[in-house]
Amino acid sequence: MTKEKIEELIKELTLVEKIDMIHGNELFRTKAVERLGIPALTTSDGPMGVRQDYEKTKWLPMGFTNDKTSYLPSNTALAATWNINLAFETGNILGKEARGRGKDMILAPGINLQRSPLCGRNFEYMGEDPYLVSELVVPLIKGIEKNDVSSCVKHFAVNNQETKRLSVDVTVSDRALHELYLPGFKAAVQKGEAKAIMGAYNKFRGQHCCHNDLLLNKILREEWGFDGVVVSDWGGVHDTLEAAFHGLDIEMSVTDDFDHYFMANALKLAVEEGKVEESVIDEKVRRVLSVMNRLNMLDGERKPGSYNNILDREKLLQVARESVVLLKNDNHLLPLKTKKGMKILVVGDNANRTQATGGGSAEIKALYEITPLLGIAMEAGGNVTVTYEQGYDANTSGNIWDEEHQEKESWQAVSLEESADKSNYHGTVTEEMETKNKELAVRAVEAAKKADVVIYVGGLNHEHDTEGKDREELTLPYNQDELINHLLIANPNTVIVMLTGSPVGMNQWIHKAKTLVYSWYAGMEGGHALGEILFGKVNPSGKLPETLPISIETVPSHTLGEFPGGDSVNYGEGVFVGYRYYDTYHVPTLFSFGYGMSYTSFDIKNLKIINNSDIENVNITISVEATNAGKMPGAETIQVYIHSHNNSVIRPDKELRAFHKVFLKEGETQSVLISLDASAFTYFDEEKDCFFAEKGTYSILVGNCVSNIILSEKIELKEDYTVSK
Ligand code: BGC
Repeated sequence: MTKEKIEELIKELTLVEKIDMIHGNELFRTKAVERLGIPALTTSDGPMGVRQDYEKTKWLPMGFTNDKTSYLPSNTALAATWNINLAFETGNILGKEARGRGKDMILAPGINLQRSPLCGRNFEYMGEDPYLVSELVVPLIKGIEKNDVSSCVKHFAVNNQETKRLSVDVTVSDRALHELYLPGFKAAVQKGEAKAIMGAYNKFRGQHCCHNDLLLNKILREEWGFDGVVVSDWGGVHDTLEAAFHGLDIEMSVTDDFDHYFMANALKLAVEEGKVEESVIDEKVRRVLSVMNRLNMLDGERKPGSYNNILDREKLLQVARESVVLLKNDNHLLPLKTKKGMKILVVGDNANRTQATGGGSAEIKALYEITPLLGIAMEAGGNVTVTYEQGYDANTSGNIWDEEHQEKESWQAVSLEESADKSNYHGTVTEEMETKNKELAVRAVEAAKKADVVIYVGGLNHEHDTEGKDREELTLPYNQDELINHLLIANPNTVIVMLTGSPVGMNQWIHKAKTLVYSWYAGMEGGHALGEILFGKVNPSGKLPETLPISIETVPSHTLGEFPGGDSVNYGEGVFVGYRYYDTYHVPTLFSFGYGMSYTSFDIKNLKIINNSDIENVNITISVEATNAGKMPGAETIQVYIHSHNNSVIRPDKELRAFHKVFLKEGETQSVLISLDASAFTYFDEEKDCFFAEKGTYSILVGNCVSNIILSEKIELKEDYTVSK
């Protein structure tokens, strides 16, 4: 449809019809204008696949059987692959399934930065580094939107905790905002060309993000040129006039009083009373129509999509495989070598738990989910025996949002109530449950003594990695530290697998464990991938997208800044989030950002600067060689960090500016070319109000994690460079 046609449509629409197009008229849908052939906009969660269908006006699952979908790896899992192609494939599957289920907009991806390991929604996000987020979010969006479905990148912005999420007011410096919290969104808009952005629940500098003048009007639209729609988070709007004037296009919420939404009757009245020009409404409608047009919703052929495609499962398996991070492997305990008669004991609640139905709005009614226990048994073969001991029972609180709960009204019905900020659906551990857990632990330890190998699968679950609530501590729940310590004594050949969406405390046993495998909510094939890795069918290649700290006391947002704060929260650590802090201030960690081992070994050598900057442009190409020096095919991720030798401002010691995952057969060498432009050398200069690379010396550091730099070269920038924000 031409622009002129869209203008004609706008002229024909009545005020009521226009208002109906810019607020929810069902829980996940706006209203159609049938007489003009304008369809409703149908949205759906979420980041790990297309959510089950709910009633139009109530948070009651429809109970269909035809809304089971592929359960995709979480964004943290995807981030751990460091694989741009897999980000595209994942997006493509998400978009295709959303379209196949008749949706127009999928409420994904979530890309808020991991500021604290305790944030309940970390599992939905992509770790602690803005460059990694930016590189992955662009292909993810392109994959989604290739299917005539809009992404809805969330939650804009500085939405880094769940505690008081509906009201907390974030204080953060301009520098940290532009260097850390905005780049993922900027890349989503400018390079990914995302058609929609979701405003966050929280406040930023005193104004709710869903109608925040600075974020939406100035940064998103004026500075970045965003021409898509801004959708509110569900119940994130608090003021009609601010919503009208500060850049929001569509208001959604969790309640069924649709006419009483801030952008419903109240907005109509504001127009009638002359407080809001009708042209303001027209502008919002224009954006909605323009997005609909780009999705081929108004005329033309539209892609039909499909879901639960068998070939896509193979792709999701590949994402799950590449997401597994091997962190420790003393004496080459892994991969496990099976022999006839071998006894393998699997321990841990997470080994036998399906996770898809938990987490909040990221829940999935999965077509199926292969648990770690199933995946291990599938790969172990019939010559060995695999037995299982639970070790601890995570149902102690009885409040994990599981299959059974799927029949009941969703927690989301009460998600705007004050108590929802804290623990609306989590209970407490009773004495009886504690006794039961002790018994389970004793049984597991006794069984461990008789096994040849123990595989422990613990970590967190969606009682902890969940929307609406942050964790209170880094320590593993359900007394797992004690259990793991006993298992390691009972059987030193205990392989430890942590299945989690966030960093967990491991200090009490990590030095005694021979192995550590970190895996995530890795989708329907997650357990399968884990089994393949443990038995060596697949070589691990995941890298941590976040630092694993020793204790919460060492985490900068908790010590230099505040977490979770009170009515407001001050990001006092500024740009020193994650490795930017640990690395600069030499604070020890358990495992560094970017770290991950392989069953083979790699040499990274011959760093060469091919061309240098000239006066006009910074255009540096480096080449580096990677060799697989071991006996198994594998993949290594070459990481390029920049260090500035100039002292006009304090900068993190190293900042990730490029990476490249190379797949190498045994003995193979590949040469990799990486380009860096001026933006790679910049920091955000608050006075100049732009990114700035000062002339002087910089080191280009090449390694395979932030704490293992293998090669370095210096370059000189002969001029200062500015890069717009
Ligand atoms: C979440 C969003 C989600 C929306 C709709 C909110 O509670 O914050 O991420 O898309 O609900 O379910």
